[in-house]
Formats: sequence, C-alpha cells, structure tokens
Amino acid sequence: MSDSHRALECDGRAQSWATRKTAAKSQRKGEPEVHMTDLMRRLSTPWSIATERAARIVDANLPPGLILDPAVGSGIHLASICLATNRVGLGIELDEEAARFSAANMNRLLLKGKDPGRIAHRILIGDGVDASGALSCLHTSLKSGGVAATPPIAMLHVDPARPLDAQNHTLDEMAPPLRPLLEAWLPHMETDDRGPALLLDLSPRLSKKQRAEVDNILDELTPDVNRTWEWLSQGGGRIDRLSVWVGPLASEDNFRSIRMGPSSVESMVSSTEQSLFISEKKTMPPSFDDWIVVVDPSIVESRLHVDWLSTHLNDTYNPIWQRANLRRPVLVSKSPPPSTLISDPFVVAVGRVVAHRLSAPNMENAPTVARAAERAGIGHLVLRCEVDPELHPKIQKRLNKALKGVEGSRGFVIDIPVSSRDGGWHVNFVTCSEN
Ligand SMILES: C[S@@+](CC[C@H](N)C(=O)[O-])C[C@H]1O[C@@H](n2cnc3c(N)ncnc32)[C@H](O)[C@@H]1O
Repeated sequence: MSDSHRALECDGRAQSWATRKTAAKSQRKGEPEVHMTDLMRRLSTPWSIATERAARIVDANLPPGLILDPAVGSGIHLASICLATNRVGLGIELDEEAARFSAANMNRLLLKGKDPGRIAHRILIGDGVDASGALSCLHTSLKSGGVAATPPIAMLHVDPARPLDAQNHTLDEMAPPLRPLLEAWLPHMETDDRGPALLLDLSPRLSKKQRAEVDNILDELTPDVNRTWEWLSQGGGRIDRLSVWVGPLASEDNFRSIRMGPSSVESMVSSTEQSLFISEKKTMPPSFDDWIVVVDPSIVESRLHVDWLSTHLNDTYNPIWQRANLRRPVLVSKSPPPSTLISDPFVVAVGRVVAHRLSAPNMENAPTVARAAERAGIGHLVLRCEVDPELHPKIQKRLNKALKGVEGSRGFVIDIPVSSRDGGWHVNFVTCSEN
C-alpha cells in the first residue's frame, strides 16, 4: 500500500470520533448538522449553494464513475453532489483533522442503507495533487473493504483554499494549485466526446488577468472543450462565488450570472459573449426626481449587463450607467423603470432622488442626513454607499436612531461619481426614496 495517503471510511466510527471532538451543529437554520472546526466553517461552501449546484449537476448526464474532490474540506460539497447524483465520492484532504470531520460528515449526510455504493465512499488524508498515490491508496482500501473494482472518475470538483487578498497572489498559491492538480488528474478521468467534467470553484476576487490565466490552463489541458464561467450572487452587494463549469457541466453559453435566493436560483442570465465594459457616464449629479436603480454587481462583473438590460428597455425607459465599476452599479433615468425591471431579482433597490450632499454620511452628520430624509417622507434609510466597513454598522445604527418612530417610506443613500468643473470628478451622495 502507498504510504502517501491514508484512507478513512465514511462510517459510524468516523462519526463517533468527530462527535467526541466537536458536536455536530447546523450552520444555518434548516440545514443538516455537520462537524466543523472554526477554520472549516469559514472555508466551507454553504449548504444551500452546494445543493443547488448539485441539482444542476444531475442534469449533466455524467459518464460512469465516482465524484472526486481533491481538496474536500468539510465534505459538505462532495456529499451534496454524491447525494444528488447517487454516485460514490472520493475526497482528499491534507489536514488530518479536517479529513476526519469530512468522513464523519459524509456518513451523516449520505443516505443510510446497505447499498453497495454506501461502503465505497472514501476520504483520503494526503496531498490532492498526488493522483497516483491517492489512487493506489483508494484501490487498496476498497479491496480490503470488499469492493473489488476501483470505479473510474466521472467528475472533479475543486474548491482550493486561496489567500484572502487573492488579487495579489499568483494562481500557483491556490492550495492545491490548479495546473498541477489538473495535470495529475485529467489522465485518470473518464470522458466522453464532451471532454472531462470539471467544476472549478475559484475566488470571486480573481482579477481579469487571473481569469485569463485559468482560461489559458484550460485551453492547454482541455482543448476544444466547452466551458461556462459563472458569477453567483446572493444579493448582498458582492459576488459570492466564481466558478468554471467544464465539459458535460458546461452549458451552450460561455458566461452566466446567477442570483441565488435563500435556497434556489431566482434568476439567471447567460450569453455566448460578454459585452464590452461599460463606459461610465460621469455627468451632472442626478436631478431631483430622477430614477435610480441599484443593480447586483454580478451582472456587470460578468459583463452580461447589455443582455440583461435589453430585456427591460422600452420606448420610454433608456437609462445611463452612471456607476459601473464600484460595488453597486447604478442606472439613472428621467423616466420610471418598467415593472419587469423593478421586480427583477438582479435589482437591489429602486428609488427617486430626494436629496444630495457632497460629504459621505458619518457619525457626526448622520442626524442631519436623517432629518433631510425625514423631510422627504423617508422613515427608514439604508446606507448603500462606500463608507469605512468598520464604521458602516455604527453610522447605520445612528441613522436608525435618528429616524426611530418616524413614519415614512424606505430610502437609501448611494454614492455617484459626477464630473467636476476642473475636468476631474468627485462623488455625490444621493438620498433616494423608495416610495
Ligand atoms: C476552501 S477549502 C474546501 C472547502 C470545501 N469545499 C467545503 O465545502 O468544506 C480547501 C481545502 O483544501 C485543503 N487543501 C489545501 N491544499 C491541499 C492539497 N494539496 N491537497 C489536499 N487538500 C488540500 C485545505 O486544507 C482546505 O481544507
């Protein structure tokens, strides 16, 4: 037996070990109970995202074989794919404690019973890049467990650990690194004419250049195989996940943007081509009564904004992108947005301009900002502009306090770049009423 890896069975023994270490807990209301350390909790894929993806993987008609996750972490994502596809899972994890928790979680999450597949799931402690060491260990372990044939590999899912400031690092600093990982596993994968089934979970903070590097790796290692880049947002004003779906997992379109609700996809936009970058119109500040639409950043980041917006344009609604490259892109128009746009899940907020100011809301001026909003009939004001993340909740609290008991509509403050007389630009803080 290779001593590069050690195999763990996903059984009651693994679960008892984990229970003695840390009780299983539900990460969010309604989700199954799993064992995790604090670090694993931070790194793990939310159950809602894992199960939603797994449901889409079922439709891919994968070739025969098992699901491989060579950086398995908590095992949550692997278990959700195995459950949905009714496949055997092989997880590999460098960190021994995480691997043991992962084996316990697989046991908890997978269906109980005497199905022969049930005894074939394995978590290996060791390096996910060492494919031959892992396969030799798997083979020996399955054989001694009474499973004569080692299944082929139908799909590889990987969610590498990455430095927090991912943009300042090279792709090689992903753990495990993408290129050697794919080079090691691709020769062992079962493929049909659609190429290998890969789901690469990448950092949503990857720069354009880093995304191009991933494309280069895939062009080289999986030539002529379809791939779909996917930006997923859960509506919190940021991109939550960036992934590439390859081969049988790719769709006809090369790019898609998804807005996830609490447990299911609320909207999806996809296209074979990305639009050009938006050239921001830094014109005059929006006038009183102009309409402001705050858009989910995944639509702009995926550069699917033209496809998306075109479905909402009509004879009277023809907005400009007044802010495109910050966290919350903004559309400005004189005429009201159509109801289809107002109810679109990629829209974060819609309002009409009721006040302007040149300085950002802060701890001192929050009561003044609140009074101006109150005069415009606003009873609850939400900060949707860039302010120091540490101060953000404090300023919001102060606004809430100043407006306590005030009857009125909801409103928000947004920052909008506008051109200055000297040819440069500055930021205008605009209060909008959602009435
Ligand atoms: C982002 S986490 C995966 C989280 C997982 N998707 C989940 O839902 O829990 C990445 C994991 O890869 C592991 N890892 C890093 N380098 C590895 C390597 N060379 N081989 C195996 N695992 C590795 C880390 O210990 C970490 O647990």
